[in-house]
Amino acid sequence: MYRRFTFFGGKGGTGKTTCASSYALNLARRGVRTLVVSTDPAHSLADAVGHPIGSEVVKLEPNLWGLEIDAALEARRYMESIQSQMLHIVSAAIVEEIKRQLKIAYLSPGAEEAAIFDRFVEIMEQAGDKYDVVVFDTAPTGHTLRLLTLPEVLEVWIEHLIKKRTKAMDLMRMAAKYEKDLQEKLKEDPIFDILSRRRDMFQRAKDLLTDHELSVFHFVLNPEKMPVLETERAIALLEEFDIKVGSVVVNRIIPAEAGEFLRRRRESQEGHLATIDEKFGKYGVVKLPMLESDIQGMDDLAKVSRDLEAIER
Ligand SMILES: Nc1ncnc2c1ncn2[C@@H]1O[C@H](COP(=O)(O)OP(=O)(O)OP(=O)(O)O)[C@@H](O)[C@H]1O
Ligand SMILES: [Mg+2]
Repeated sequence: MYRRFTFFGGKGGTGKTTCASSYALNLARRGVRTLVVSTDPAHSLADAVGHPIGSEVVKLEPNLWGLEIDAALEARRYMESIQSQMLHIVSAAIVEEIKRQLKIAYLSPGAEEAAIFDRFVEIMEQAGDKYDVVVFDTAPTGHTLRLLTLPEVLEVWIEHLIKKRTKAMDLMRMAAKYEKDLQEKLKEDPIFDILSRRRDMFQRAKDLLTDHELSVFHFVLNPEKMPVLETERAIALLEEFDIKVGSVVVNRIIPAEAGEFLRRRRESQEGHLATIDEKFGKYGVVKLPMLESDIQGMDDLAKVSRDLEAIER
């Protein structure tokens, strides 16, 4: 049994893309139809697998497909779709104002995340027939945690908007009691529909992400001080949001045969490894050695994937 949605996350540069693509390759070579998706706006999936990947799914080898979500493109599509929905609804007088507001929203810090999120949910919902497993190569921790906890946070906010909208419409309907035409017009409320569609989408995303049989999140870290602290905090947050934490992958462990030059560094890693075993032992700690050179292309990834077989499925 494989969980349908497998996430790899962690601090910048720890080896998330390497682990995600190597894990995906291993599944594919066992006959599991696998899609590996990068949600990191700074993609490096194509480099890792040694094959160009873009905002449309490409086949990488039998049973393996890749996709890099293009944050800027999704943000633009997202804004355009909201704009076209809104422009149908609002009166001509405020069209320019709406356009202006949307432009500001497009440039705001959360816009790309919101747009990536929509695409991300779409991928999860449509994965069913085509793929057995979707492996997500995520952006460094902070960004990803915001992405995964977005439904929970936005649900509260959208619920509030829906309540306000309902109240406003009730008032308008009351005021229109004696005007037949207006009454007819107010029967439907497109804004309410848009809001409730989004609320339902967040709800569905939350259901998928918090289903422990369906989704699992693996952490990748290096045996150093800061990543241990960051991983500890991130695990606590995910668990608070009821997202299943799978394995903790410790990457770049200096092998014993590395020689005198790296001895001191190796000793310091040993201390951190002991802390990692103690703190994260219950999740299953999977260890990966530091290799002599970068891990690039399918052959390199296949070498790493044997070590990753210990990852909890
Ligand atoms: N165990 C290892 N031995 C040697 N090189 C490694 C190892 N793990 C990763 N690398 C190399 O280190 C670089 C960074 O790894 P990777 O891209 O997987 O990290 P990342 O966590 O995805 O980074 P980012 O946060 O930038 O997305 C890559 O060039 C990769 O080939
Ligand atoms: Mg990466």
